[in-house]
Amino acid sequence: MTILTDQRIILTGATGGIGIELAKQLVVQGCKLGLVSRSNEKLEQLAASLSSDANKLCLISADINTSDGRQTIIDQMLKSFDGYDMLINTAGIMDFTSLLEQSDERIEAVLQTNVIAPMLLCKKVLPYMLAQNEGHIVNVGSTFGSIGFAWFTSYSTSKFALRGFSQALRRELAETDIKISYIAPRAVRTSLNSSAVYDMAKEVKMNMDKPDFVAKQIIRSIIKDHKEKYLGFPEALFVRINAILPGLVDKATRSQNKAAKKYIS
Ligand SMILES: NC(=O)c1ccc[n+]([C@@H]2O[C@H](COP(=O)([O-])OP(=O)(O)OC[C@H]3O[C@@H](n4cnc5c(N)ncnc54)[C@H](OP(=O)(O)O)[C@@H]3O)[C@@H](O)[C@H]2O)c1
Repeated sequence: MTILTDQRIILTGATGGIGIELAKQLVVQGCKLGLVSRSNEKLEQLAASLSSDANKLCLISADINTSDGRQTIIDQMLKSFDGYDMLINTAGIMDFTSLLEQSDERIEAVLQTNVIAPMLLCKKVLPYMLAQNEGHIVNVGSTFGSIGFAWFTSYSTSKFALRGFSQALRRELAETDIKISYIAPRAVRTSLNSSAVYDMAKEVKMNMDKPDFVAKQIIRSIIKDHKEKYLGFPEALFVRINAILPGLVDKATRSQNKAAKKYIS
């Protein structure tokens, strides 16, 4: 069990739909937060909306895709809080399109933001955590990281990779006290999803959760030290079925994929 009070947490994606709710709820738990975004303006707005002592917040304007950005995160945490206890990799991007229509640059950007940057951030925070022999890394995945979805190929690929990375790193660190968690929400009502995704979700009856509920579930999983957690039913069950019988899921999702194609850009 993890007690969150006074934990010094790096939260990437802090200005996004899920990140804002995580920040709000982590403040209530008494955490010290390093809030990461590329936009200083959005960070200031977020900080103003949080009922936290200013000295418990550190606003970190950084692009996680750059080496300078990742170094800034570490430097700011050391300066403000003398270190860090947890990294929550929430930042992410997504496209809803066919592989052929997606530009090479966007494919690279999705993989860079959703996999490479979280991996490099883990590498960056680990030496300090290993020296303390204490720390927790939480990677926010997706149902799409266990069930490959048509029209979300690069996003699905990125989340599959993030899940594999989390599992391998957990095993690599098994002899230490560093915890690695992978927490996978199903669809969430945030601006990650374009209006086309909302229209498609309505037609195919895709379940969509509210971000405050998802943040609550993520925090619950962190407190309970879940190693892997799939949020939502029946999605959590479909994750298991797809792992054992992918051919069955190919057939079961065929008409849904066909219907979804109408909405892609
Ligand atoms: N929404 C869903 O349906 C859903 C479902 C399952 C899993 N998830 C996962 O949950 C996480 C959060 O999603 P969300 O819905 O909250 O997304 P969102 O509302 O679109 O927010 C995305 C966040 O990522 C940050 N970000 C993106 N690129 C960045 C970069 N290069 N450097 C620094 N920050 C960057 C954005 O910050 P700035 O733009 O301010 O820099 C923003 O805070 C993602 O990993 C997503 O894959 C979402």
